[in-house]
Amino acid sequence: MEKQIKTIGVLTSGGDAPGMNAAVRAVVRTGLHKGFRMIGIQRGYNGLLNGECFEMNLRSVSNIISAGGTILYTARCLEFKTKEGQDRGAAKCRELGIDALVVIGGDGSYRGARELAHRGIPMIGLPGTIDNDLGGTDSTIGYDTALNTIVEAVDKLRDTASSHERLFFVEVMGHTAGYLAMNSAIATGSEAAIIPEMETEVDQLAELINHGFRKSKNSAIVIVAENPKTGGATALAERVKKEFPQYDARVTILGHIQRGGSPTAVDRILASRMGEAAIEAFLDEQRNVMIGIQNGKIVYVPFAKATMHNKGIDRNSLDLVKILSI
Ligand code: F6P
Repeated sequence: MEKQIKTIGVLTSGGDAPGMNAAVRAVVRTGLHKGFRMIGIQRGYNGLLNGECFEMNLRSVSNIISAGGTILYTARCLEFKTKEGQDRGAAKCRELGIDALVVIGGDGSYRGARELAHRGIPMIGLPGTIDNDLGGTDSTIGYDTALNTIVEAVDKLRDTASSHERLFFVEVMGHTAGYLAMNSAIATGSEAAIIPEMETEVDQLAELINHGFRKSKNSAIVIVAENPKTGGATALAERVKKEFPQYDARVTILGHIQRGGSPTAVDRILASRMGEAAIEAFLDEQRNVMIGIQNGKIVYVPFAKATMHNKGIDRNSLDLVKILSI
């Protein structure tokens, strides 16, 4: 029989995302409100293995709802990918008196969570990643803020692109998913979005840009999702420049700036609702699921489904980029 849950640990893992603090706050305050003892674990699974944890009270999470990053720190833990690490993690939870765990992170974090769950630790996940690449949820915590950061940057790039009559390739993050690229392209009126889910023909792209210039546009912006397989914006710009030297092209890689900053209201609300739902899920006898949001409603998503990467890209949105940037 499962041990009664009295003490719940919370950790953040993987790449940080704006809104993680709001989620920690909601988990801790709801947990305390429901009578649980709450333990913060620092530096993700690394910190769990090293026993880096502390008791959290109502004031431990004061004034953090507006802060980017994570007060619990975060890390990617190689040891946790091994069976020995996972065995040690479960043993450490028992040693520290942690009966159940809330993990806030992306898909790598859920692989670890599933392994702890198999070893008898009740786990609930919260989707914390700017990439929005988890299945079973319409959005992840941090995605909206990152999208807004990209939009702000691209609006500025448009000013200089149009003054110099240039073509800009702007690389955005997304891991292996194109959500940030596609939706930032729509929101900035960019000429094209290059995403890993679709093959890119340089000729077609150049034709699209040419078409724009022929129609008296004087600048163009192409949003390119990072892609180690193809080399991302830098490699694409090189290919385009080689074949079409008439373009005065520049590359901007937005990089980790996309992971920082104060979370938007959308992310704060999402994180608060999901954080509360994580504690409710334990009380609801839910185990080993991620909290998701679908059509505005909180749902429980099995870890296996969350990590399947099968959300799919909406073709209409891609078409929209083209139609609206004529
Ligand atoms: O998963 C979040 C993310 O920012 C991805 O978009 C990106 O590919 C990766 O993390 C970068 O990781 P790191 O911080 O290790 O450079």
